Amino acid sequence: MKTLCLLLFALPLHAADLIEHAKAHPDGKAAFSYDTTAWSDDEATRHLPIGVFDSGIGGLTVLEALLTLDAFHNDTLQPGADGVADFAQERFIYFGDQANMPYGNYSAVQRTDYLRELIVKDAIFLLGRRFWPAEGKEPQFTKPPVKAIVIACNTATAYGLEDIRKAVAAWKIPVIVVGVVEAGARGVLESKTTGGIGVLATVGTCASGVYPRTITQTLGLAGQSVPVIAQQGSATLAGAIEGDAAFPESVSAYALKEARALAEAYRDSKPTKPLQTIVLGCTHYPLAKDEIDTAFTALRQEPAFADLIAETRLFVNPAEATAKELFRELAKAKLRLKADERCILEHGQFYLSVPRVDEIGIQLSADGNLDRDYKYSRSPGQFDYEDTKNVPLSPALIPPNSAKLVRERLPAVWRSLSR
Ligand code: DGL
Repeated sequence: MKTLCLLLFALPLHAADLIEHAKAHPDGKAAFSYDTTAWSDDEATRHLPIGVFDSGIGGLTVLEALLTLDAFHNDTLQPGADGVADFAQERFIYFGDQANMPYGNYSAVQRTDYLRELIVKDAIFLLGRRFWPAEGKEPQFTKPPVKAIVIACNTATAYGLEDIRKAVAAWKIPVIVVGVVEAGARGVLESKTTGGIGVLATVGTCASGVYPRTITQTLGLAGQSVPVIAQQGSATLAGAIEGDAAFPESVSAYALKEARALAEAYRDSKPTKPLQTIVLGCTHYPLAKDEIDTAFTALRQEPAFADLIAETRLFVNPAEATAKELFRELAKAKLRLKADERCILEHGQFYLSVPRVDEIGIQLSADGNLDRDYKYSRSPGQFDYEDTKNVPLSPALIPPNSAKLVRERLPAVWRSLSR
């Protein structure tokens, strides 16, 4: 009891309120609650799917890594490829909080309190059975709970990983929580960089300082010296990669702007070695790795940057590192399905949040999305108010440009989605 009180005390009031709210509705019928009995049997828990969430569809890059990872021998759990996908037996439930994104912009308007609540609500959605049908006025309760939560969003990891871990501890449920940032920092360690480190991420992720902090801790714990770490937060690159019409220039043009800004920030830190490792610290950036690398090559042609940027760069894609981390954590907790075992779900499931247009007081823009000012001025603490609803995601719900991106660049995800 004492530990629990200390845990709750360490949380901001609204997150603690949300934990209490979920506890007060143990049958999971109310909004932002889950069926607390779902993990009472260890054997049944192992057969549950794995939940993955992001602020939108960008986290599908992480799901692609999860679906295709072959970095371990499945029978011995030793490192090395064995020709069988490491999560072949597992099934995934993906959730994208598209209606409330971009998460990366809440910090700029001082609304990280609301963002933190959204992130814990994302976890509760994955834990629960409750979802909304695309059409219809009542929620349904047939979504399976999950045995692990992968926070596929860098910004959500930055602001919500600790809250979710504390919530899971307070609820006393045996659910693993893996975040993309710790895995990314481990990826930096494994890159064996000898030069400086640059982090490209959203404005929010950079404002939180989570990458420099976590990379410093990870390298330090491994007994390595910590080189200069510079970061650059972008408000445009993720949108441009998605093909959002609000960002009319090419992805290459936005990538060059961000690479230049990162190189300048790196130079201002007075480094003694060239910038070598680039952390793709936003879900979307692995999709533009080539454009980003080309940008650094172009910058090297300029005398001001020639000695500042390494001739070849090492790219850290936290998605891959996250997939490896999940494998290890599941194995450690003995929650991996064995070769002859099957998940209770035959196929993966996908959900996306959309505005719940019949909620009183909701404000929409002309294109049917949440109005921008409304979206970024909401306050935490209202658990009986649902201005968005999580509905099954079909390819038709994905904006055309994003659908094209998924179809061409994330084939395993596309196959799973189109089933
Ligand atoms: N998924 C976010 C991330 O990885 C990028 C998009 C957003 O700002 O919501 O940080």
